[in-house]
Amino acid sequence: MKTEETKRCAAERPARALRSFFCITFIAALLITLPVVSHAYLEKPGDVIEKTCGDTNIGGKKILIAYDTKHGATSSIADQIADVLCADGFQVDLKMARNVTDVSPYHAVIAGSPIYMFNWLPGTTNFLKKYKTALADKPVALFITCTYLKDDNDTPDRRAHAVELYIKPVMDKTGIEPISMGILSGEFQYGELYPLEYILMKLAKFEEGDFRNWNKIEAWAHEVGLLLQ
Ligand SMILES: Cc1cc2nc3c(=O)[nH]c(=O)nc-3n(C[C@H](O)[C@H](O)[C@H](O)COP(=O)(O)O)c2cc1C
Repeated sequence: MKTEETKRCAAERPARALRSFFCITFIAALLITLPVVSHAYLEKPGDVIEKTCGDTNIGGKKILIAYDTKHGATSSIADQIADVLCADGFQVDLKMARNVTDVSPYHAVIAGSPIYMFNWLPGTTNFLKKYKTALADKPVALFITCTYLKDDNDTPDRRAHAVELYIKPVMDKTGIEPISMGILSGEFQYGELYPLEYILMKLAKFEEGDFRNWNKIEAWAHEVGLLLQ
């Protein structure tokens, strides 16, 4: 014979199951949406730089710089590359790779991405895949921004390793044979990270800092300019 207590427990069982269901659904929804929402909320429009320069370089070859960024370091680096090439006599369009709709007007393309967890951002890789056939007929230079290479560990061996680690896989995927590869130190600040990134990078004990070296960025841009003259 059921006691009053057993009856009460049995009556509460469906309510408990429903509560657990809502709890689990809520936590799952939070885990799925939090990175997306926080990404959208924290993305600063100032991180993106798009511009045209060198319009007065009549007869200057047209170059497209297509890049992607999450936190803006690559925008500033791509911007500097554009300025150098315009000063060197080229006409340059600087665009987020995902906003490029046609590569046919350009003599050459420079494509760049920051490295995130050993990978390029999809904006640039999708661009390279999408225009693979058209790019096969043009000079293409590739650059990455990363923190693997910094001024205090910038050796030929480490550069070669960065090429193997970060550029070769993209060349294999897209079939692109770059005329030049820029391995440029980027910037990494904990204060700019999205919550999930923050946790991951704290666990990985990533060193914070602005490792951009404007002289090296400028030198690489001149080097590409010379190859494209
Ligand atoms: C979550 C995260 C992962 C990263 N992974 C790598 C990596 O695998 N290798 C590397 O050299 N740098 C890595 N970095 C450093 C970035 O490549 C560097 O900060 C870059 O300049 C960021 O460019 P952005 O500001 O244009 O997004 C990582 C940074 C973050 C925040």
